[in-house]
Amino acid sequence: MRLILLGAPGAGKGTQAEIICEKLSIPAISTGNILRKAVKNGTEMGKKAKAFIDSGKLVPDEVIISIIKERLAEPDCARGFILDGVPRTVVQAEAIEKAGIEIDKVVDIEVPDDEIVKRLSGRRVCASCGASYHTVYKPSADPTKCDRCGGELIVRKDDEPSTVLERLAVYHEQTEPLKDFYAARGKLVVVEGQEQVADTTALVFKALEA
Ligand code: AP5
Repeated sequence: MRLILLGAPGAGKGTQAEIICEKLSIPAISTGNILRKAVKNGTEMGKKAKAFIDSGKLVPDEVIISIIKERLAEPDCARGFILDGVPRTVVQAEAIEKAGIEIDKVVDIEVPDDEIVKRLSGRRVCASCGASYHTVYKPSADPTKCDRCGGELIVRKDDEPSTVLERLAVYHEQTEPLKDFYAARGKLVVVEGQEQVADTTALVFKALEA
């Protein structure tokens, strides 16, 4: 299964990717996580990406295209993969096609903007492993620690309300056109994001079987 998860920031792509990759035993590849790791490690790429991420803008296409080509060439992607948060522009989607990378399905998770703002204001992420929680919808056993690795739970800098609004505007302008791009190729399936994570997962698997 070679899958793309599409959707607004906070739609639940990362949450669903974690569950699907465990069930299907294929890697989930999040360009957001790769970039945040590069920022944390102070690499050249991280230094270039930081200002874009912190202000809610997209990192330039050429940086993303090179990350994704390199990552998809790794052996663990041979049996399939889930792309979470990439492609995010038509230029990125065309680069994936031109590189001969086949995609089986594109699952678009639809969530209204007002719900997105609620979700992102309650999100907490693990500073060590990147696992994602929500203070109400998906709480960790200890509100300060990650259930998976015991790392510290923090608020992402780009989850500040003004940055969330900018990320939503960027999504509608630059990423939403991908729905038409993949619908035209017969790959797009749309799932309405539900209030419960498990209900969205059930709809995603139903869409994958169709
Ligand atoms: P990235 O990390 O990809 O962020 P994003 O797309 O904005 O997505 P999020 O991680 O915010 O949300 P999500 O959909 O994964 O939701 P989650 O599952 O966490 O990108 C960050 C930045 O990096 C970008 O702004 C850009 O600068 C750069 N970047 C990355 N990729 C790029 C690319 N390809 N091109 C250019 N730049 C790029 O869920 C959100 C919250 O809701 C969580 O708290 C979760 O617990 C909760 N939740 C999830 N599902 C439910 C549910 N069903 N009900 C209730 N709560 C739920």
